[in-house]
Formats: sequence, structure tokens, C-alpha cells
Amino acid sequence: MKTKTRVKPETSSHRRQHVSNRAARLSPSGIRKFFDLLNTMEGGISLGVGEPDFPTPWHIREAAIESIETGQTMYTSNSGTPELRRELARSLKSDYAIAYDPGDELLITVGVSEALDLAMRAIINPGDEVILPDPSFVAYISSVILAEGVPVTVPCYEESNFEMSPEAIARRITKKTRAILLGFPSNPTGAVMSREKLLEIAELAKHNNITIISDEIYAKLTYGVAHICMASLPGMKDYTILLGGFSKAYAMTGWRVGYAAAPKDIIAAMTKIHQYTMMCASTMGQVAALEALKGDQDCVREMVEDYNRRRLVIVKGLCDIGLSCFEPKGAFYAFPSIRCTGMTSDEFAERLLEEERVVVVPGSAFGQCGEGYVRCCYATSMAEIQEALKRMKRFVKKYRKG
Ligand SMILES: Cc1ncc(COP(=O)(O)O)c(C=O)c1O
Repeated sequence: MKTKTRVKPETSSHRRQHVSNRAARLSPSGIRKFFDLLNTMEGGISLGVGEPDFPTPWHIREAAIESIETGQTMYTSNSGTPELRRELARSLKSDYAIAYDPGDELLITVGVSEALDLAMRAIINPGDEVILPDPSFVAYISSVILAEGVPVTVPCYEESNFEMSPEAIARRITKKTRAILLGFPSNPTGAVMSREKLLEIAELAKHNNITIISDEIYAKLTYGVAHICMASLPGMKDYTILLGGFSKAYAMTGWRVGYAAAPKDIIAAMTKIHQYTMMCASTMGQVAALEALKGDQDCVREMVEDYNRRRLVIVKGLCDIGLSCFEPKGAFYAFPSIRCTGMTSDEFAERLLEEERVVVVPGSAFGQCGEGYVRCCYATSMAEIQEALKRMKRFVKKYRKG
């Protein structure tokens, strides 16, 4: 007689671990939980999200609308439309006097977010080290981990204008160093790097044959200082993967368009990964980006002037209430010290939200060296900035030590 083997039904408690070690090693972003909390409150003010409060300028939206009306709804070339790559090459030449071949040295991506991931996956082998600043943008460490690289952080201190010290970088270079990741103007500090320091880092890269991945998404948002593009420094085009985008300067966060400019072997490697994962950036997004580059740049100048007015108000306001604040020269973040309250940055952000309904991001979300600070994004209306400062004043008065 045949016996039937009964298979025990699988229950969730017997399910084997399905999450990869790579994914398990990532920490969730320390930013999101505050927005989720804010959404449950009335009368809250957010200095949290790092995105422009302006809608995309109308001429850019109109170009995209027209592209939809005329049926431009298909995939584009993996590398991005030839028109956009040509226009990007023209714009990089005019901004920084660097000549990129639109045929094989440029790749249009789904924001700088994708470009960063592609850059890491294209050049990092398991165990390779990537030197990067602390504090820095939350995705930097994760992008290295996802590529199975090893992040090596360089502390950036307020006393040194939150710049990345070339000496500190040099001390961390080993045989395994594959890349140095720079992100200036900086999210979260608003710091920019001086030409002298960038030149020293460039020398380190050339001398040790290291690639620089330079995230310059805030290049157009600087105040009283000119942005220096790493790839434009002598001999650096060959050593740099330049990442740039449209999200911040053109208020286009939702369109999801960015780019990478790099030597052709690296662009070819990045394009292979991009073609199997994204295929191409969105077609209407690329039409909008083309219009952003071709159209009048007054919209960018006007937004920068507006951010600058808010920057001056928030920095002075924070200092006046006793939160000493480094003067940011780029991006749209103020990074005041909260040490006078004796709280950790996490406690400060949580209690400020609970008691005064103002969202700021704890500096520790950006790395260990961010502890003792909070990030306040001033890409929000002047009225909201002033109201947030009023509430923060009340809060600091209550908890100030000494
Ligand atoms: C430093 C930095 N790099 C990259 C990004 C991501 O930009 P994108 O919208 O182009 O993906 C951000 C977004 O906040 C950022 O602050």
C-alpha cells in the first residue's frame, strides 16, 4: 500500500531568512520618522524635508505637458535623449569649461540618487574602501554598503568650516581605497570646500590613482561664493565621476532626473547597470530637464536670491535664540549647535516636535559628527521660518543649561 508523505504546511515561524545580509546591514533613514509624526499633527511646521518649496517653473512644466500632448511617451535611449545629453554637454562647458562628449561621457539617470548607486556599483569591488565625509547625506554610506564596499569616514568639524581635511583623507588612504566621495555644497551643513583644499584632494587622487565621486547637486545654490567643480581642476576630468541633477536648482524633485559625467569606460559600466535596472529616466522628465537647461536661467537666480534672504534670517534668528550657527555658504540648510540644551540631537528633535510641533532633523542622522547639531531646511516660506524660530526660542529658553 502506498503511503502518502504529508508535507508540513509552512508557517511564518518556519520561513527561512529571506532578507539579504546586504539589505539587513542598512539602517533606515533617520529622517522619515519625524515626517510621519508631523503628518499626525495640526499646525506643525517642517524644517525637515530637503526640497524646494517652489513648484517647478512654469516654462519647464509646459514643455513636459506639450511632450505628453504630442505623444512623446515611449522609452528613450538608455543613455538619455541625445538632445538632453548635447544640451548638458553645452551647459557643463559654459559653466566649468569642461568638454564632455555627449556620445559616451554622459549618462542621464533617475536623479542623483540613481547616479550615486550606479557609480558605486560600477567601480567598487567587495571590500574596496570609499572615503567620505561625516556628517554627510544619508544615502552615501548606504550606497557604499549596497556595492559591498567599506565606508571610511572623515570627521568634518565646525571649527574647520565643516570642510573635509585633505590631511585626514591622506591618513585614511590604504591599498584598498578605491574612491573618495565628496558632497559639497553639503547636505546637512551647507559647507562648501575651498579651491585650495579641493586642489590638495585632487593631488591625492591623482597620486594614488583614486576615483573621486563628486556629488554636486547643490552646485547652483551658493551664496557669495562660486562653486568649484572637481572635474574642472587640472587633470581631474579623468579621475572624477561628476554627479549632478535638476531636483534642487530647478525645483524638480518629483521629476526624477539627474546625470553622471565621467570617463567613457566608467559611463559604459554605469550604463550597463542602468539599462538592466532602470532602462532609462522618464521621457517627460528628460523633456523637462532639457527645457530647464535651454530656458531662461532667471528662475534659478530668483530662487537663489529668495533662499539667500531666508538663509540670512534663519542663521541670525538661530544665533539670537542661543543656538550658535555656522554660516552655510551653499545648499539650503542651517546646522545649528544644540549643545547648550544638554540634549542629544535625537532628544532635541523629538521634544521640539512634541512640544512645539516643529520638525528639524537630528544631526546624528548624518553621521556621528552630526551629534550636537540639528539640520533646519530653510526652503520653506519666510512666515514659517519666523514662526518656527519663535517656537524654538520658547523651547530653548525652557531647556537652556547655564
Ligand atoms: C547631497 C544630495 N545628493 C543627492 C540627493 C538626491 O537627489 P535626487 O533628487 O537628484 O535623486 C540629495 C537629496 O536630498 C542630496 O541632498
